[in-house]
Amino acid sequence: MILTSRLVQCARAATFAAGAILAFSTEPAAAADAAAGKTVFQRQCQTCHIDSAEGPKRLGPTLFGVIGRKTGQVESFRYSEANKNAGWIWTSEKLEDYLKNPRAVIPRTTMAFAGVRQDADRANLIEYLKTLK
Ligand code: HEC
Repeated sequence: MILTSRLVQCARAATFAAGAILAFSTEPAAAADAAAGKTVFQRQCQTCHIDSAEGPKRLGPTLFGVIGRKTGQVESFRYSEANKNAGWIWTSEKLEDYLKNPRAVIPRTTMAFAGVRQDADRANLIEYLKTLK
């Protein structure tokens, strides 16, 4: 009886460990680097977006606080109907899809941007966007 319960405990521990390893290996954010992401932002987004709450008007809305924000919510910015009505909350996962190919996610967006091609650049950029709060 004691032996069986030990075996059960042991099996549970092994399952837990396997789960932890799996979670770790499938989590790209673990290796993402916000400082490198800031450089990606400066190179690819900054011409159209600011990263602070207040600042000069640019072609796109500020990305300050974008993660956790619903689509199309920056009051001073005139969005397209497509972006405004997309209706989801921007999460890391949603941004991962959108930044890979914006038009695939919001087909009628007025954001004239083809996407961030490199997987690592996107991961780092999203890590940087997380710091904008
Ligand atoms: C050529 C200008 C331009 C560039 C470059 C650009 N954007 Fe945009 N972005 C826009 C415009 C314009 C919109 C609003 C689109 C609309 O209303 O359809 C927008 C919208 C967005 C939104 C939706 C915001 C919201 O409040 O719903 C996100 C997120 C975004 N851009 C992220 C980025 C990131 C990250 C980069 C850099 C990789 C980038 N954009 C590069 C112009 C640009």
